[in-house]
Amino acid sequence: MRTAAIIVAAGRGERAGGGLPKQYQPLMGRPVIHWSMLALVGEVDDVVVVVAPEHEDLCRSALEQAFGPTKIVHGGATRTASVRAGLAATSKADVILIHDAARPGVEFRIIRALLAKVAEGASAVAPGLAVPDALARIDGSGRILADVDRANTLRVQTPQAFRGDVIRAAYAALPHDAVMADDLAVVRVHGVEAVLIPGEHDLMKITYAEDLDMAERLMTSPMVTCVGNGVDAHRFGDGEFVTLCGVRIPHTKGLVGHSDADAGWHALVDAILGALGEGDIGAHFPPSDPKWKGADSARFLRHAVDLAENAGARIVHVDVTLLCERPKIGPHRDAMRARTAEVLGLPIERVSVKATTTERMGFLGREEGLAAQATATVERPA
Ligand code: CTP
Ligand code: MG
Repeated sequence: MRTAAIIVAAGRGERAGGGLPKQYQPLMGRPVIHWSMLALVGEVDDVVVVVAPEHEDLCRSALEQAFGPTKIVHGGATRTASVRAGLAATSKADVILIHDAARPGVEFRIIRALLAKVAEGASAVAPGLAVPDALARIDGSGRILADVDRANTLRVQTPQAFRGDVIRAAYAALPHDAVMADDLAVVRVHGVEAVLIPGEHDLMKITYAEDLDMAERLMTSPMVTCVGNGVDAHRFGDGEFVTLCGVRIPHTKGLVGHSDADAGWHALVDAILGALGEGDIGAHFPPSDPKWKGADSARFLRHAVDLAENAGARIVHVDVTLLCERPKIGPHRDAMRARTAEVLGLPIERVSVKATTTERMGFLGREEGLAAQATATVERPA
């Protein structure tokens, strides 16, 4: 199933004011749109950002340093028109997430919850949050006309997830000049039933200037930075390749181990578990269990990522050092970084892979085996 995300960022941010549209204003040292994009890039196959033509360069410089080449299309005069432009650029996706660039608090959790609902058969899913305040209907001068029963209201947030064919059909049927509040409304006028999952305060939309401060306060909930380290070694044996940091490298020997013997990722898993205080890899995946024979170590790494997420923690950076005389790591370093970043759901700049020899000393120097050492920096709720 191919998934895509459309991030709509073509608004002018008139209510928020300021020199730049709100999605390009700084929030915790990065443009707002950086945070809106961060969780999505790790969870979907393609991301398309919809921008106002005059802000394309601004958007590229806000995103490309962290995320690499980014697909950018030009939006329209209304949010509805901007989504339409995004849909035209995601015509191959089976599932489409649509997200406001102005909601930087989006996290992996909510994206996965939305995608899970679509996988279960829902056509349209969005987060909805209860309205705690009393609600009143007013006229243009602010005079109260009527009370609104908040018991029957919800604030509908983004990201919203749709089956690709459903959202495309709904937009195709929508009059071209129609202006809708959001995409759930577009599919609903097309007769599609929508599902809501619990929304989150963190998904607040930056609308007014003071919302930037509020978003910053929400995003800086007290966290403590924990650093874990991990070490692993595997003996060389017969074989024609070794697997290191998820990359298969041709070699004159193989590595002996119960799983795929990927020492780089085993050290990394232990580093993440260490930062979480969750024991070691052997406790989670006992080598005595035949289930793990020949296992792809990506499973172990994903397990560590899941443990972190379930604990409300965030892996912010990892650093892996491979210790061996041969094979030479340099030519494979970029592929190892990319694959590790992919499995961790991190931008590549947060993943380091490097290598060293031991100047022919010891068991590594004699090429009896190879070893790896890793460090993981993890932010955990204080
Ligand atoms: N948006 C868009 N194209 C538009 C209008 C809005 O892509 N023509 C995007 C905004 O960039 C934002 C989201 O839709 O990420 C929600 O819109 P809103 O909060 O209204 O943002 P702005 O339109 O930029 O703000 P304002 O209405 O205050 O000008
Ligand atoms: Mg607007």
